[in-house]
Amino acid sequence: MSQITSIFHPSSPEAQSIYNLTIWIIALCGCIFALVAGLVTFACIRFRARAGSPEPEPNYGNTWLEISWTSGLLLILAVVMFFTVKTMIESSPSDFGLKPDLIVVGHQWWWEIRYPTDAGEAITANEIHIPVGQRLLLELRAADVIHDFWVPELGRKIDAIPGHPNQIWLHAENEGEFQGFCAEFCGASHAWMKIRVIAENHSEFDRWLSHMKESAQIPTSEAAKRGLAIFQNKTCVNCHRISGPTNGDPIGPDLTHLSSRETLGAGALQNTKFNLARWLENPDAIKPGAHMPSFGLTKSEIDDLTSYFEGLL
Ligand code: CUA
Repeated sequence: MSQITSIFHPSSPEAQSIYNLTIWIIALCGCIFALVAGLVTFACIRFRARAGSPEPEPNYGNTWLEISWTSGLLLILAVVMFFTVKTMIESSPSDFGLKPDLIVVGHQWWWEIRYPTDAGEAITANEIHIPVGQRLLLELRAADVIHDFWVPELGRKIDAIPGHPNQIWLHAENEGEFQGFCAEFCGASHAWMKIRVIAENHSEFDRWLSHMKESAQIPTSEAAKRGLAIFQNKTCVNCHRISGPTNGDPIGPDLTHLSSRETLGAGALQNTKFNLARWLENPDAIKPGAHMPSFGLTKSEIDDLTSYFEGLL
């Protein structure tokens, strides 16, 4: 997993145009800073008070200076605005209302991810797979409060606003993993609302997508069968969907292929059997404010559940 994520490593044309604008504005501001600091330093040295020198003549107003620095400033701002608008156009879809390739819904505090394909919908959470080199139209929605979707190496930030879908391009020119975040404070576990984007070649992506549309693996071991029964008989099933045993619209993350994901709790933990048990024991201890409560499961119930979840590849 790439640990350092920054707009200074752009991996898409959209992120590249944001990077160019940033560098350009930093350079421009650097020149202005150097000019102002240089003139102030020059004035401090050249016109400093010397022993025995008389009071200097006061100097009031200079029409030409006023005109030139006001118009100079306006010109600089107009140029900055021109390149900013150009970058906005280059980094955002211009046609609204097109059919999205994937829908991402911000929840407190995780991301629901849906790929509406002609052959049925693939649903997952927190980890987005995309085919490398292909620009996907992402529609962003919010289920509760305002969130903000941001994968710095792949493009711009965009707000997820309840009742107002937004669209951006999601596009990676290199294979690899890209880290993203929620960039709008949205409550106690805002910091644990990470996004993983995995850009892979087309055949791997197609394989992944068709796998996501499949129903969950049927448990074979006794422990996993008991785990499935616990999942169905306890409250788990009210919020989570596992395609096959349960369907419908979940309010919590889809668990059909839980074990194929690398992290738990939207990036809070690595997805291991041990961490899954910790999570089931007390989610709030790992992710403050998590809407999934501790159900007071016994050690053997947790063992059975983790055995079942482990098989959900
Ligand atoms: Cu969602 Cu911050």
